Amino acid sequence: MLNWDELKHIHVIRKLEEILGDWFYTDIFFVDEKGEFQNWVPGEKKEFRNLLTSVLVSKPGGYQSLIQFGAQIVEKNIRSDKSTQLIDGIFGFEKVMAARIAVDSEFLGCVVAMPVLGHDILSADKTKAKELAKTLGLDAGDMDKAVNGIKAISTADMEYFRQLVELVAQEIVTFHTEISRREERINALNQELGTRYRYDSMIGKSKPMQDLYALLDKIKASESTVMIQGENGTGKELIAKAIHYNSPRKDAAFVTVNCSAFNENLLDSELFGHVKGAFTGAVKDKKGLFESADKGTLFLDEIGDMSPSMQVKLLRVLQEGTFIPVGGTEARKVDVRVLAATNKDLKEMIETGAFREDLYYRVNVINITVPPLRDRKEDIPLLVEFFMNRGCKEKGIPVKQLAKRAIEKVYDYAWPGNIRELENEIERLLVLAGDESKISADLLSNRIREWGEKSKIQGVRLQGKLKDALEELEKTMIREGLKRTNWNKSKLAKELGISRAGLIMKVEKYGLDKRRLMRSSND
Ligand SMILES: Nc1ncnc2c1ncn2[C@@H]1O[C@H](COP(=O)(O)OP(=O)(O)OP(=O)(O)O)[C@@H](O)[C@H]1O
Ligand SMILES: [Mg+2]
Repeated sequence: MLNWDELKHIHVIRKLEEILGDWFYTDIFFVDEKGEFQNWVPGEKKEFRNLLTSVLVSKPGGYQSLIQFGAQIVEKNIRSDKSTQLIDGIFGFEKVMAARIAVDSEFLGCVVAMPVLGHDILSADKTKAKELAKTLGLDAGDMDKAVNGIKAISTADMEYFRQLVELVAQEIVTFHTEISRREERINALNQELGTRYRYDSMIGKSKPMQDLYALLDKIKASESTVMIQGENGTGKELIAKAIHYNSPRKDAAFVTVNCSAFNENLLDSELFGHVKGAFTGAVKDKKGLFESADKGTLFLDEIGDMSPSMQVKLLRVLQEGTFIPVGGTEARKVDVRVLAATNKDLKEMIETGAFREDLYYRVNVINITVPPLRDRKEDIPLLVEFFMNRGCKEKGIPVKQLAKRAIEKVYDYAWPGNIRELENEIERLLVLAGDESKISADLLSNRIREWGEKSKIQGVRLQGKLKDALEELEKTMIREGLKRTNWNKSKLAKELGISRAGLIMKVEKYGLDKRRLMRSSND
């Protein structure tokens, strides 16, 4: 079923309503398959665009006639073989445009734009209208203003008007289809993936995470060094811990060294320790982290930030299992399993000479590449739920949920900061939500809430020639549609409700062929 509530928030639909209001002074209603109004509840206070509508609903019996009218429109539209119809309005002198909303030939309702006048309306008709209005209990003064406020549309412009109203209905269908498709995909993935949704404290049941769990199972008992590569906040440290705590070394120490946090000399003494008198301030022997990790695991985080001379020393420990403390002369031996992580492109660093190739191959015995969150969006609902539950539990408050629209936004966003960014966003939402148990999309951070809106319709102009504005809109819709469908013209033509040949003509007209578009987006 259509989610009427969500439709009100769709940017492109709101924009179209705005255009219709500005150009034609009409109000847009959504009526469902039974003819019930969905974007306006009778009795609800609402700013109407057109005075006739305001006057009508402000009078006793006004709602009633509007509600009956909704049912009539739907009945007429179902029976018609055309998807849009210009039909007589409530008073008989004005007109109403109704466009059918149908998904897979199932009738779901209508978009109704009202009221307008044909430009051929006679002043006699207007007078008659005003008299008619009196019998409905409207007073003449109000009615005068209302009737004069309706826009008379020329025959040529009427066609544009019709197309715009139809576009609203098509956008609703597109939105609905997109949402259902996405829900189906998530359901299918969830079923396919079985029950393994966590590994240690890692959450996720997408295919990439399943592969990761299988790999972790294989390597946990081995002694090999492991290189963990992935973008910021993808969970590299969590993976390192999971490896250690599932390995035979789990009862010995897990020691983390953040290689980027120390300058070279400090890192040296930090890792390998120093002997008394090695440098000013070295008043006694100090054990290094390598020694502290004996029999356990040493996690070298941000290994890409290690200086070239430190890389040499590290290579030696890895090859020989021995190291010399700063200021010392004797080599010491340790039994340490090394795990390393970085978000840098080490291959590229090898090419520029910033990272030693021999060290790379020594550490990279087993490679784990952690997928960014945008490549495993199926995990998002699970992660949201997990962080939400955990956060509420910590705060000792009842569990909250994201509203559907908010989930959509969270799902669409690209998450450059990956899981850490998602974790922080949920934490922030929990603070902002107060007592609300459903967290609405308005509370989301701007970058998430506004994501994608840019790629939709941007500032359709509200002045100038209507034809130009429509062409601009048409061009934008086709351009975005081509990108979305990956240049599948048959699919897009179907979505837009035009023939494939028609679409190809328009693509040529607007210069939207693939090569040209790719070129301009690379500029
Ligand atoms: N699969 C996951 N399930 C639940 N929480 C996760 C998962 N992956 C990461 N996190 C959480 O996200 C945050 C970032 O994870 P982590 O520090 O392991 O990432 P990282 O790759 O080391 O990041 P950086 O590159 O910034 O060092 C942590 O709070 C971690 O608990
Ligand atoms: Mg990290």
